[in-house]
Amino acid sequence: MNIVGGKLKTKKVKLKLKQGVIKKLKIIGVILGILLVAYMFYCKQLSQFTELGYSREASKKILFSEHKEYILTVKENKTLNAAFESENFKDKYLKNYAKISFVEHKSLIKNINKLLEKGYSNSDVSIILTHGSEEDVISFTERERVRYLEEFLNFPYAKIKYYDRYIAYTDETGEDEKTTVIHVNLNMDKKEYEDAVTEEEFSYDMLVNKFHYLEKDFIPNDLVEVSEDYRGGTEAVLANRTAVNAVIQMIESARIDGLELVVNSSYRSHADQVEIAEFYRKWYGDSYVENYIAKPGYSEHQTGLAFDMGSKKSKTFAESKEYEWIVENAHKYGFIARFTKRGQSITGYRSEPAHFRYVGKEIAEYIYKNKITFEEYYVMFLDK
Ligand code: DAL
Ligand code: ZN
Repeated sequence: MNIVGGKLKTKKVKLKLKQGVIKKLKIIGVILGILLVAYMFYCKQLSQFTELGYSREASKKILFSEHKEYILTVKENKTLNAAFESENFKDKYLKNYAKISFVEHKSLIKNINKLLEKGYSNSDVSIILTHGSEEDVISFTERERVRYLEEFLNFPYAKIKYYDRYIAYTDETGEDEKTTVIHVNLNMDKKEYEDAVTEEEFSYDMLVNKFHYLEKDFIPNDLVEVSEDYRGGTEAVLANRTAVNAVIQMIESARIDGLELVVNSSYRSHADQVEIAEFYRKWYGDSYVENYIAKPGYSEHQTGLAFDMGSKKSKTFAESKEYEWIVENAHKYGFIARFTKRGQSITGYRSEPAHFRYVGKEIAEYIYKNKITFEEYYVMFLDK
């Protein structure tokens, strides 16, 4: 073969190779095109669900399930979203998931399945889920099915972990469901002073009573002296600064109305309370102390937010014009009458007309308008 012939052959081979590559590229191009169209179609299908609020993960599962049409009729649903995201998803419970309240629990779907298996209705399951922590729900899934769920747990502040205590309390006392829930949440089914909750942080809405305790060394924030001008006696009186400012405003307003309100006592240390309790025990006996004087550690005087008020003119405060005025006006300054006759069974103390507690205006107004105790307010709005 001569050189010219050889070159020609090489050229031809090269051309063939080039054509082969072009052909392959074309095929790849077509395949890519098809894939792209398919992907776009897939994304569009997926977006039907992501646009409804379902996560990408849940949307993928919905897309490849038999429930597409159903989801499109239900639209957005957080519990369904969690169900499709979960490995515990059960087809037979699809419609239940759609009707059960969503809560942020890691094992939500597993717990729902267990409760449905026990025969609870969708609304029962929602009640259980929304009245306890995840731990409480898990232990509830492990117990026998209970009856009378709604009676107690319809109250938003009822707790599933106290279910047995509610039943025992209502059986024993005959109290209605609402009272039962409030009393048990306050631990009133237990012995006073036993298993008391220790209040560590100072706050204007802190609860101190026979079930909420302060350590010996608890000292309130920002103690200041109440100036002589606003006191009934000569001895120094300390209290929290914000509460003192509020009591001064209240006293000044009463003065405009021609009344002479005074502060007789406020902050008392643990040691002060020991002294006071001993004093009254000596002169009035155990029963008086039990009914009127808090055990050291259980007195809200240690918070610097309680004030025993008095009248400069009258010795019997409960019969004075000042008392009449303060009962109707204290809430405007953030104070509540803490130990009323109506509240005796809840506070555990007999009526003490002189004792006012600073809680801030919002809480004070609610308590005044609804004629409830601070304990009831605590159960409804503060207890977490
Ligand atoms: N008198 C109230 C109950 C107290 O001692 O704190
Ligand atoms: Zn008092």
